[in-house]
Amino acid sequence: MAKTKRQKPKSRAAAEKPARKVVKLAAKKPAKKANGNGKSNSLPRPSTKPWGQAGLALEGVRVLDFTHVQSGPTCTQLLAYMGADVIKVERPGVGDITRGQLRDVPNADSLYFTMLNGSKRSITIDSKHPKGMEILNRLIKSCDVLVENFAPGALDRMGLTWDYIHKTNPRMIVASVKGFGPGPYEDCKVYENVAQCAGGAASTTGFREGPPLVTGAQIGDSGTGLHLALGIVTALYQRIRTGRGQKVLCAMQDGVLNLTRVKLRDQQRLAHGPLTEYSQYGEGIPFGQAVPRAGNDSGGGQPGWIVKCKGWETDPDAYLYFITQAPVWNEICDVIGEPEWKTHPDYATPKARLPRLKQIFARIEQWTMQRTKFEAMAELNKHDIPCGPILSMKELAEEQSLRATGTVVELDHPTRGKYLTVGNPIKLSDSPADVRRSPLLGEHTEEILAKVLGYGAAGIADIKASGAITAPDKSKAAA
Ligand code: COA
Repeated sequence: MAKTKRQKPKSRAAAEKPARKVVKLAAKKPAKKANGNGKSNSLPRPSTKPWGQAGLALEGVRVLDFTHVQSGPTCTQLLAYMGADVIKVERPGVGDITRGQLRDVPNADSLYFTMLNGSKRSITIDSKHPKGMEILNRLIKSCDVLVENFAPGALDRMGLTWDYIHKTNPRMIVASVKGFGPGPYEDCKVYENVAQCAGGAASTTGFREGPPLVTGAQIGDSGTGLHLALGIVTALYQRIRTGRGQKVLCAMQDGVLNLTRVKLRDQQRLAHGPLTEYSQYGEGIPFGQAVPRAGNDSGGGQPGWIVKCKGWETDPDAYLYFITQAPVWNEICDVIGEPEWKTHPDYATPKARLPRLKQIFARIEQWTMQRTKFEAMAELNKHDIPCGPILSMKELAEEQSLRATGTVVELDHPTRGKYLTVGNPIKLSDSPADVRRSPLLGEHTEEILAKVLGYGAAGIADIKASGAITAPDKSKAAA
């Protein structure tokens, strides 16, 4: 098998490189040869180019990006990392609201925006202006995918109904994030934590004796954006056969529930008796009608818990997740200094241990508290005992191995300077991630009008004069 080269992370230099050349999405000539099964296939002959030099995975796909805030931008940023030409449409003078939210550098685009809109191009268009609609119509004709996460009905109110878009460009895939799918809540606006609550994550997160908790992982926004990206590439694949686009809908409630499916599993198990792997069982506390919050219990069949490590008194992240995986129970007993537990009837089998998990983890904690989380991890790994340090954001930001793989990337931005972003977490061996800085508001407006839509100098001057791509002049309005 050919060896793939480790992909170099994109450097600042990469951030400064000019926008990619956009290749037209054209069907390649099929190979006539039969495949191994004796059937002919429609794939081109395998490329002989070196790995990573045969173009990016989504090269030739053009995305009309109507997204804002987090869920939609997460999706289109991933598509851009994978090579799609993502054209972000923003309201003149205003742009994506996150450009100005949680600002750390005065008058510069926020990290909220820059970390979700890398590798895209920005065009400003007032979609409620007739000339703006003319530009949008041209974009609809020349794009493959339209992605949006407006509040329910907003796209229709712009006049961009599915029927209209499909008639204008039957190949267009229209992908949407909404808070809820069809049903009683379909008209509601939704943000991250609302989705976490409505999708079952909050009711099952936290400690039994405390209130429901939301998690720092943005499973409602970024999680749904990921789901949408999969829906889009799947629809692109189906379009190769059918020649037509389709609607792709990801509701945030559905996305969160999908990620919380183990708890729906447990809900059904409850009908057949207590959830014996929950520490609540060992503590003799009866279960109610719904899946309870389980603190740091593992969600799977191998009991786990978070235990303190050396330094926990002053370092809020001096902890380790420890899994008492059954196949390495003997090793665990030896490491923590309880060799007799290997054969003792109260500890020797997973079933016997279930009612004693609290006590077992307390003993493990006595051992981990003598070591830092990294020392404990190194020792446990020698015995193949599954565990993981609780890493702070500071530690992750400084972790060199994440820089080396391009998962954490430093970029340079013309107004805010250097910043860190998360690169593509999905590594493709033949498609290196294209991670570039986020665009300034309207940075590519003229470039897109001229090069993508074919407007000449006079046409662009006309558009500029119309007010469709520029913010209303406040001084004139006041006069
Ligand atoms: N030119 C002119 N108008 C534009 C425009 C442009 N380029 N881009 C957006 N607008 C208008 C829209 O047409 C809409 O106007 P209308 O309500 O008069 O029809 C308006 O801007 C605002 O859109 P909306 O989506 O309602 O924004 P909001 O700030 O009120 O709500 C959300 C934000 C996130 C709550 C909402 O968009 C939503 O529920 N989205 C779906 C779920 C989602 O993705 N949530 C997670 C966000 S991370």
